Amino acid sequence: MKKLFIKTYGCQMNVYDSERMYELLAPHGYKQSDDYSEADVIILNTCHIREKAAEKIYSELGRIVPIKKKLAKKGKKTNIVVAGCVAQAEGSEIINRQPFVDIVVGPQTYHKLPEFLSKIQKSSSKIVDTNFPVENKFDTLEHNRDVANVTSFLSIQEGCDKFCSFCVVPYTRGLEYSRPVIKIIEEAKILLKKGAKEICLLGQNVNAYSFSYNKKDWNLARLLRELAGLEGIKRLRYMTSHPVDMNDDLIKAHGEIPFLMPYLHLPIQSGDDDILKKMNRGYDVKLYLDIISKLKNIRDDIAFSSDFIVGFPGETDKAFNNTLELVKKVNYAQAYSFKYSRRPGTPGSIMKNQINEQIKTERLSILQQLLNKQQIHFNNSFMDNKLEVLAEKKGKKGGQLVGKSPYLQSIYFNNEFNKIGDLVKLKIISTGKNSLEGKLINSSNGEIN
Ligand code: 5AD
Ligand code: SF4
Repeated sequence: MKKLFIKTYGCQMNVYDSERMYELLAPHGYKQSDDYSEADVIILNTCHIREKAAEKIYSELGRIVPIKKKLAKKGKKTNIVVAGCVAQAEGSEIINRQPFVDIVVGPQTYHKLPEFLSKIQKSSSKIVDTNFPVENKFDTLEHNRDVANVTSFLSIQEGCDKFCSFCVVPYTRGLEYSRPVIKIIEEAKILLKKGAKEICLLGQNVNAYSFSYNKKDWNLARLLRELAGLEGIKRLRYMTSHPVDMNDDLIKAHGEIPFLMPYLHLPIQSGDDDILKKMNRGYDVKLYLDIISKLKNIRDDIAFSSDFIVGFPGETDKAFNNTLELVKKVNYAQAYSFKYSRRPGTPGSIMKNQINEQIKTERLSILQQLLNKQQIHFNNSFMDNKLEVLAEKKGKKGGQLVGKSPYLQSIYFNNEFNKIGDLVKLKIISTGKNSLEGKLINSSNGEIN
């Protein structure tokens, strides 16, 4: 048995890809280890979305390389692989900066890892593969899955054609590609058979999903309806959506499918129409707010999360205030916010009126204070109310289980009767910003045990 250490950075798509890398290597005698100092192969599955994320990889390599050297003195070989979006964007530059890296492989060719590893182990050569091959990696990756968690990710779409002017994704992940319906359904069935209760469909632009099959055009709504009928499914989610692709059929699906959780991640990035235009987002604030109100009309318990970028080139105080106003209007359950990071090769990086770091820091802090307040308020609103939790793992204390609410809040509770994978009704007895505590409700009479 060879030991494999995989560290994952960035988005859920990378989490999914890392699971697939493990599944690819397991039949070749690799077992996953959580200690890189004893690994035969170390894979860093990287993220390039912001400068900080990319730089993290070089500091991690700075920690790993001395271990590789130490082990080499004892006669043990360690192979270092840089995969993911930094690999795609920087290619052989990674080996120039850090010659102890053996393989650099982008997100579209990692299915060749078994072949690459066996090649370099025989010849001590280096491999850099950042191609976008004609055959899609999903065609090579079997739908057979080993890694099935109570909450499992399933990639249905990859890449992006939107070319937002701040974003590297269309360059690192390539253009939009939707996986065949049949492969997705087969993979979902396997995940459910292996114990998954919740499936989260993934895609950089998941709601742009589009595929022709059985003389029908399949969009995300149709796919969700189909998956909701599979045996064993308890919860469905999808992320990340673009407002432009939030069509009426998909909105309607939220009112029809009880398994579809009433929680939607819908990044707006800015609440100012001029900035949205410069970002090339393809919508204005009105369109975004219309989607929110249509969804609320169809499902009144729905809540929203979002992504924001502050300090995009040309963002005035007034434009920033418009973002704060938008946040107040929507009232988010949770949100991510970032300082604009200039990414080489993107249109935003060469725009005039770049905003200085200090202003970005100030704006981020103001926005985050508001978002945090909304998150705490949202969590507090469940005090003494009921929430359903899907038990995912054991808690820190004995007898405790932890899981997620429909709104992805972490909830812990004491209990001897239920097990991981159960859906449990709880009364919320304490709330915080990042987690809630619940107490079991006796299902027969609604009383609290
Ligand atoms: N700078 C800052 N944030 C960015 N994001 C994407 N590109 C950048 C960038 N250049 C953010 C967006 C996106 C999230 C995944 O990362 O908010 O929705
Ligand atoms: Fe990036 Fe925009 Fe595509 Fe999202 S929609 S991946 S932000 S280019």
